[in-house]
Amino acid sequence: MKAVYPGSFDPVTYGHIDIIKRTSEKVETLVVAVLNNPSKKGTFSLEERIVLLKEVTKEFENVEIDSFDGLLTDYAYKKGCTSIVRGLRAVSDFEYEMQMALVNKKINNNLETFFMASSTKYGYLSSSIVKEVSMFGGNVSCFVPEIVEEALKNKFKRRI
Ligand code: COA
Repeated sequence: MKAVYPGSFDPVTYGHIDIIKRTSEKVETLVVAVLNNPSKKGTFSLEERIVLLKEVTKEFENVEIDSFDGLLTDYAYKKGCTSIVRGLRAVSDFEYEMQMALVNKKINNNLETFFMASSTKYGYLSSSIVKEVSMFGGNVSCFVPEIVEEALKNKFKRRI
């Protein structure tokens, strides 16, 4: 099975890596696809997110990092992916994820969405919370790999 794991990854955290690692053990190929969303101004550029993702997933041989814009269903079709993978952290994720899964299924009935339950230790993580902690000088080493921590420090240093 070839699956796509889409998201903003602004930036990638241990929570995402947990989903990527565990999913990659279950599928033949996993495409991690960063959404190029012009209407959501990110902290990191698309290129920066891709560089970080490539670095932190380099040990997973069947994981490919890519980006997309437009509809996820069109992208999945183009890439030959038959499944979408999304992480579920808490009940609060469920409604939004279910809505996306149902809409995507309506657009392309052959595309299935699989939900991967987040590991409990990462169930509270989000990219925004990590950015907030880092912005105020907090230690984020338990949330993100060192290369991401350094990228965050550089990003926020420049803004002060
Ligand atoms: N660990 C850590 N954080 C996680 C996480 C996990 N396992 N799962 C989700 N998150 C966090 C992300 O860090 C992000 O945090 P932030 O809001 O603080 O940045 C947040 O949850 C949102 O997750 P993300 O996976 O980036 O979803 P999104 O809502 O930004 O994007 C897409 C979802 C890309 C799948 C969706 O917008 C899409 O498909 N867009 C394309 C257009 C389209 O086809 N639209 C129709 C779809 S119905």
